[in-house]
Amino acid sequence: MTELELRNKFLEYFRKKKHAIIAPASLIPENDSSVLFTTAGMHPLVPYLLGEIHPEGKRLANFQKCIRTGDIDEVGDDWHLTFFEMLGNWSLGDYFKSESIKWSYEFLTKELGIPNEKLAITVFKGNDDAPFDKESFELWKDQGISEDKIYMYGKSENWWGPAGITGPCGPDTEIFYITNRNPCSKDCQPSCNCGKYNEIWNNVFMEYNKISNGDYEPLSQKNVDTGMGLERTVAILNGRNSVYDIDLFKPVFQKLRQLSSITDLVAERVVIDHVRSACFLLLEDIVPSNVDQGYVLRRLIRRAIRQARKLGINTKFTQDIANAIFESHIELYPEISKKKEFILTEMQNEEEKFARTLQKGLKVFEKELEIFKNSKKKEDKFSGKAAFYLYQTYGFPIEMIEEELKDNDIELNRKQFDTESKNHQKLSRNGAKKKFAGGLADHSDETIKLHTATHLLHQALRLVLGEHVMQKGSNITTERLRFDFTHPQKLTPDEIIKVETLVNEQIQRALPVTVTEITVEEAKRKNAIGLFEKKYGTKVKVYKVGDFSIEICGGPHVSTTKELNSFRIIKEQAVSAGIRRIKAKVQ
Ligand code: SER
Repeated sequence: MTELELRNKFLEYFRKKKHAIIAPASLIPENDSSVLFTTAGMHPLVPYLLGEIHPEGKRLANFQKCIRTGDIDEVGDDWHLTFFEMLGNWSLGDYFKSESIKWSYEFLTKELGIPNEKLAITVFKGNDDAPFDKESFELWKDQGISEDKIYMYGKSENWWGPAGITGPCGPDTEIFYITNRNPCSKDCQPSCNCGKYNEIWNNVFMEYNKISNGDYEPLSQKNVDTGMGLERTVAILNGRNSVYDIDLFKPVFQKLRQLSSITDLVAERVVIDHVRSACFLLLEDIVPSNVDQGYVLRRLIRRAIRQARKLGINTKFTQDIANAIFESHIELYPEISKKKEFILTEMQNEEEKFARTLQKGLKVFEKELEIFKNSKKKEDKFSGKAAFYLYQTYGFPIEMIEEELKDNDIELNRKQFDTESKNHQKLSRNGAKKKFAGGLADHSDETIKLHTATHLLHQALRLVLGEHVMQKGSNITTERLRFDFTHPQKLTPDEIIKVETLVNEQIQRALPVTVTEITVEEAKRKNAIGLFEKKYGTKVKVYKVGDFSIEICGGPHVSTTKELNSFRIIKEQAVSAGIRRIKAKVQ
């Protein structure tokens, strides 16, 4: 079965079970500064899981591009990818455990033909926050799963969410495929990561809301949130032993092997995985930088280059790999076709930049080496701090440093390097935690105001610069809005003042903000701006700001523009060719 066949089969199955097939969201969360990437199909659905009415009903399903960089260290093993597709179905206060488990089992065994004995299940065993999920345990038994294949685990294994600090969450039941490989020990279980058990689907029963004091409150509605890994499931359906063995990757491996002179399966997988994720980030107009998504993109490309060196690749290669990825992925993601050139150019630019950085790093390294040699006492080891500096500042791979030192019969103070590295990780983890601090549904007064200001800015830009202005990205924190849009050149000071004045005039007019739910076709007829990628017949929310702006959007917004007080542009800059960025505040 191909990836596309599985996707279609999944959607068709849930369509028959009366689920609306909703459009996938962007890989970069819109108007949500609390997460860098969409990591699950449920992200854009948080307000609806908390009780807001979804325009398309209570039963939803879709496919969703996801990126998880938390799994980056596992990449290279058999089952982990940083970019993957998630197939999901949701009940927003409609059906619950019984239907969810029945349908998952039916889909896997009847539609996909997976034998019952190849499945193992895990359920939540209970703790102080929530009881043992006996219901799920019994429901799986009713489906014919034998008791010894149902494992009970605590929160670390069988609880999902919240994705941020607060929000919807609950016990989950996970479905594993039992592979043919040998168990790692006689105690091998689904919770063990040896690869014998491959998690393919997770059904979360979201019946709690974690609140800021850490308590779990029952939600007003009981939801189901499921996610199935497309690549993993295709792998097992085709009898493959690894997610990297699916047809989607075959031509990519072929290309990579043509370019390399050394065989190293883990390095090959990392190169392919990282270049692939980079392609999909570039597809969203993210470009390599030193902050946020751009920084992750930069790390992915640079890590791929470093791993490629292990394969003996010392020339430019990212474009070749990206082209092979385009070819095998275009059927699943036709949107690639419009952006190929942009992706290739940006990827190569970063590759060249990194080559220059490495060169600079090499010079610094040689200087350090010189100093070390000159001052060397017999028992000295090369400073781990210096090595970490090289690694951190120049992206100089530690393996490379060790190799160079070995050639000179010098040992690295690895302990010192590891301590430095650990301290640094702690710092960046704290940074990452801060990113989550707003929670997924950060609907504070500040962000709501800035969200409405974004609509005013968007329309003002179209009026001042022209109708070619289109939103390319939006990110809101409690401090400022950031809006990326298409425009070929830098804005002049005069244009900036005009845009600012126009927005402030609308604020002074105290325009009412109103919302209606209409079909995409109606929204188009009304000249609403926004993303029109949704399916025919889909209903969308349209926000109107007086007579000034009409835009498709999920909200929320202020009720009158007067609440914004005043608007100020604080920065205007380039993001990439043809895309500008404005940062602005309200006071
Ligand atoms: N949110 C759950 C997960 O990511 C189910 O989709 O596993």
